[in-house]
Amino acid sequence: MENKFKEIEKLVEKELKPVGVDHNIDHVRRVYALCLKIARSEKGVDLVVLRPAALLHDIGYQRDHRVGTDIHDIISAEMSEKILSDLEFTKDQIDKIKDCILSHRFRTDHKPKTIEAKILFDADKLEAVGAIGLIRGAIWLPKMGGNPFSIDDPKNYAEINHAGGKENGKILDWAKHNFFKEYRSKSRTLPKKLYTKKGRELARARTIFEKQFLTELKGEIEGRR
Ligand SMILES: [Fe+2]
Ligand SMILES: [Fe+2]
Repeated sequence: MENKFKEIEKLVEKELKPVGVDHNIDHVRRVYALCLKIARSEKGVDLVVLRPAALLHDIGYQRDHRVGTDIHDIISAEMSEKILSDLEFTKDQIDKIKDCILSHRFRTDHKPKTIEAKILFDADKLEAVGAIGLIRGAIWLPKMGGNPFSIDDPKNYAEINHAGGKENGKILDWAKHNFFKEYRSKSRTLPKKLYTKKGRELARARTIFEKQFLTELKGEIEGRR
């Protein structure tokens, strides 16, 4: 089994080579490590399902991005099916792994139901907060047109720039987005949205750090520190 996991990791690394550092094999390895950490606090976790699901969850990211379809969960699940059956995983294992992959994103109707899917969801979302979340944000925010050095944060931001006026709605104009808005509309509420106790605990610690960082950032930008 260990050789199969190594084989999968190699395939994922190759597939994600053209992707930026915020979403390449390093992201996958961090999510994988967090999955194992969270799994140690849960009962009855099937690691033969969780480990390949963690490794494969974003394998379709690059292919999806090339065509701009925003369905990397579906593409990743399809690509995984072929890889896993070539590696002689059972039909039941393949179905469970695909289910984890299909439920790893926030904005889809496919919600995590099994413990393995819940762990993968939590581990992946933890990448959006804390020190790693901030570094990833500093990479993608300017790419999308946002300004990491902006401290503009109006109280009615959700109303003006999130679809449907809701904090979890899609961002309408990235040029208006920044770290402070990201914290208020997403990071702050993340712990409540996770499924596992350990995931929520880790998310809380990361968001506390993020808040401290943003206080420092605002002070430096305003020339007070
Ligand atoms: Fe993903
Ligand atoms: Fe991911």
